[in-house]
Amino acid sequence: MPDNLAIRIEDLSIKYKINVDTKRTLKNALMRASKGELVRTRTVEAIKHLTMDLPHGSVLGIVGANGAGKSTLMRSIAGILPPTEGRITVNGKISTLLALGVGFNPALSGRDNIILGGLASGMNRAEIESKTDEIAQFADLPDGFIDMPVRTYSSGMYGRVAFSVAVSMKPDILLLDEALSAGDASFKEKSFNKMRELCAEARTIVIVSHALATINDLCDRAIWMNKGSLVQDGKPAAVVEEYLKFLKVGTLPSNYEDM
Ligand SMILES: Nc1ncnc2c1ncn2[C@@H]1O[C@H](COP(=O)(O)OP(=O)(O)OP(=O)(O)O)[C@@H](O)[C@H]1O
Ligand SMILES: [Mg+2]
Repeated sequence: MPDNLAIRIEDLSIKYKINVDTKRTLKNALMRASKGELVRTRTVEAIKHLTMDLPHGSVLGIVGANGAGKSTLMRSIAGILPPTEGRITVNGKISTLLALGVGFNPALSGRDNIILGGLASGMNRAEIESKTDEIAQFADLPDGFIDMPVRTYSSGMYGRVAFSVAVSMKPDILLLDEALSAGDASFKEKSFNKMRELCAEARTIVIVSHALATINDLCDRAIWMNKGSLVQDGKPAAVVEEYLKFLKVGTLPSNYEDM
């Protein structure tokens, strides 16, 4: 793919197979076995034939209703979820904050989780030690909480540490799925500033958020997804405006017929 691209998505489709057996009885199982099927499944098409390029240095916002496929797309870009069809190519080191605190061990302290995260991402001891203090300082938890087990944290404290870890990895590509929703106003401002700093360093950021003002403020491009398909791709203000209309009256743009 061309050097200027951070992410290239080519005709991507992602399907989930869901086991729809509600009654797991022997009788049902035998009936299905006699018909030659083992489990009854339903397929959900979470992403349908998505194609797009994202140049390095972009700050992309993704909006769309619950279940639109936003998190699925993020997991797929992160390499956690393989495409059912099509291809995703990523050029650079990725750091993700996909769901709050996923990847943290609840029994360990925030500090120990940061150290583990550092080890997992291949940093050496000296790097980790210098980073740990920096991350803990940025997270700025109330007194002593950084050394308490993560299970004792509020969602906002969790979010603070997770965000601090994600941005400290100095990624080329940062994926944030609802990452800013749990923080209070003061941390939100701090994380916005941090993201602006990362943008200035020409890093690529993808933000999924239902906070449309955030998308408007931070992004230079936005896409609106609906039922796994791309509805609109453009300037955040224009995309957010159309999406808001859709939320109010439920109609898709007239030039969009592929539903
Ligand atoms: N692990 C899974 N197994 C089966 N189906 C799934 C799974 N994860 C998501 N889905 C389905 O895929 C579709 C897209 O879900 P996804 O989580 O990507 O939506 P989303 O846009 O992130 O929604 P939200 O705004 O609620 O976070 C939905 O229909 C959902 O039910
Ligand atoms: Mg989601």
